[in-house]
Amino acid sequence: MKPMTFTNSIYPVVWQDDRVQLIDQTRLPAEYSVVEIRLCSDMVEAIKIMIVRGAPAIGIAAAYGIYLGARELTQTDRALFLQALDRVAQTLAATRPTAVNLFWAIDRMIKVAQSTPGSVEQIQARLLDEAHAIAAEDLQTCQDIGRHGLSVLPQSPQKLRLLTHCNAGALATAGYGTALGVVRSAWAAERLERVYADETRPRLQGAKLTTWECVQEGIPVTLIADSMAAHCMKLGMIDAVVVGADRIAANGDAANKIGTYSVALCAKAHNIPFYVAAPLSTIDFELSEGSQIPIEERDPSEIHTMGSTRLTPLGVEFYNPAFDVTPAHLISGIITEHGVFAPAELKEKLAHLPVG
Ligand code: MRU
Repeated sequence: MKPMTFTNSIYPVVWQDDRVQLIDQTRLPAEYSVVEIRLCSDMVEAIKIMIVRGAPAIGIAAAYGIYLGARELTQTDRALFLQALDRVAQTLAATRPTAVNLFWAIDRMIKVAQSTPGSVEQIQARLLDEAHAIAAEDLQTCQDIGRHGLSVLPQSPQKLRLLTHCNAGALATAGYGTALGVVRSAWAAERLERVYADETRPRLQGAKLTTWECVQEGIPVTLIADSMAAHCMKLGMIDAVVVGADRIAANGDAANKIGTYSVALCAKAHNIPFYVAAPLSTIDFELSEGSQIPIEERDPSEIHTMGSTRLTPLGVEFYNPAFDVTPAHLISGIITEHGVFAPAELKEKLAHLPVG
């Protein structure tokens, strides 16, 4: 398998010249810069501090991280090499807890290592191929999600106004996006009037990343503060909501960026369809319901500081969960690469399908 070929301009995780190149998402939109990753430990750090973020992109980055780790190992004995590779996998798996794509990609890489016959060099070469395959498949998967999403968006003679939360775009995937993949497809089909982007406190993925992507591609985008979504819905400004997911339980409960649950409640109250767009690799059939999804808590500084300005007095306590779980009953449909399903259909229709 060759490294993927590119069809548009935003690729957050790219293999080039024997190293991984990551778009530094902590610096956008002020600065477009690329971080070069040669060592597994640098990939671990890049995932932790969110140079690369978004569930599928984290999975792809971790897959390349496994290869980089494998390349650094000095064991020539196959069994010892595989044991050491397990330790590499554990380090990568400890970076972020919620996005299941991380664990899915790591498992897939480890299974490939174990099942590849031959020498350590042969296993290493096979691991690089597999990482390329994971990246290339994601690009195709997201395009399929975009196509299926378009088929369920409200049919009306007017062009659509879609609301999204966080960034589930090219930056969060191999290069097309899940929720923003649907937006891209609607735009390409001339069915989109504009996308409303929630700013997505506290890390501002909507304000910084979703708007940046849309501006790059000429997609009309209006930024709103998170607190404005209900008001916009009440005024009839939103036709449908499309968001991504970090992990979906077997019953259809979906974890996504903090604030998604509030958006879903508001959409329900205003009778606006609320779709979750995600690849099969984001569905965790081992968890029966959303309450079992581990929710990452991040540093309080994400709430009490903006830029270099401290917003709060000293002595305040903080709670900073990075994700919340939207219950299945608030979700109109889950848009996957295999089609669009009601949350209750996931197990019956998708659990038996191979992922990747
Ligand atoms: O903390 P982040 O920025 O990694 O969270 C990202 C999200 O919540 C996305 O909506 C989700 O990963 C889907 S990305 C296609």
